[in-house]
Amino acid sequence: MSQRTPIFAANWKMQKTAGQAEAFVEAFLPLVADAEVDIVLAPPFTALDRAGRALGGSRVVLAAQNVNPEEKGAFTGEIAPAMLVDLGCRYAIVGHSERRALYGESSELVARKAAALLAADLLPIVCVGETLEEHEAGRTLDVVGNQLDESLAQVPEARAAEVVVAYEPVWAIGTGKTATPEIAQGVHRSIREWLCNRFGEAGQAIRLQYGGSVKPENVAELMAQTDIDGALVGGASLEPDRFAKIVHFDRA
Ligand code: PGA
Repeated sequence: MSQRTPIFAANWKMQKTAGQAEAFVEAFLPLVADAEVDIVLAPPFTALDRAGRALGGSRVVLAAQNVNPEEKGAFTGEIAPAMLVDLGCRYAIVGHSERRALYGESSELVARKAAALLAADLLPIVCVGETLEEHEAGRTLDVVGNQLDESLAQVPEARAAEVVVAYEPVWAIGTGKTATPEIAQGVHRSIREWLCNRFGEAGQAIRLQYGGSVKPENVAELMAQTDIDGALVGGASLEPDRFAKIVHFDRA
């Protein structure tokens, strides 16, 4: 593990009503009261307000799962960065593979979202990752490198250290298949090199999350890797005790 403060984010996707989110927070906060890591919850938009109120001034912070890069206007169904700030969000996830695959989001759009977030003083969690086909064809580093080139194109160097990058191999998301810690570390090391080439010293400060079937049983060996600074967690973040166990991973 590195000197960087670990950061764990719960991505609830399209799950939990506002009431369920509030109940989660009430059960979860006492379980992580003494955790010395950064903890982020990303409920659906409709639960942000209730979850945020339940979090109060705790050290657990709120994230959105998506954002529109425009400030305001005729964009039916969309949510602007300032609206997220208003609800107390600190982060937003952008470029999740489900958005890329199911809603056709390009890295160019992800770049605009990341820049709009930084401009509004929100911190982007920028997701990258290859599909199974790309993985099996040995194209992981090419694909991830291109996604980084395009998705981080508008991040000003002075703000780079605030960005979080999540590497999520698509074949490991929700499948129960985790990349081995060695495979994950190999990709994370390449991402770190890319970040240092692009942003200089700040590349060392950027936190890299691994995502894809992270659970209490595998988090410690992932976190033991030099360039894995946290996790973006879907399924195993839906229950307070399971996500709390991830947050309290065994430090080697
Ligand atoms: P998972 O999802 O933990 O359920 O694999 C991770 C993610 O999609 O962020």
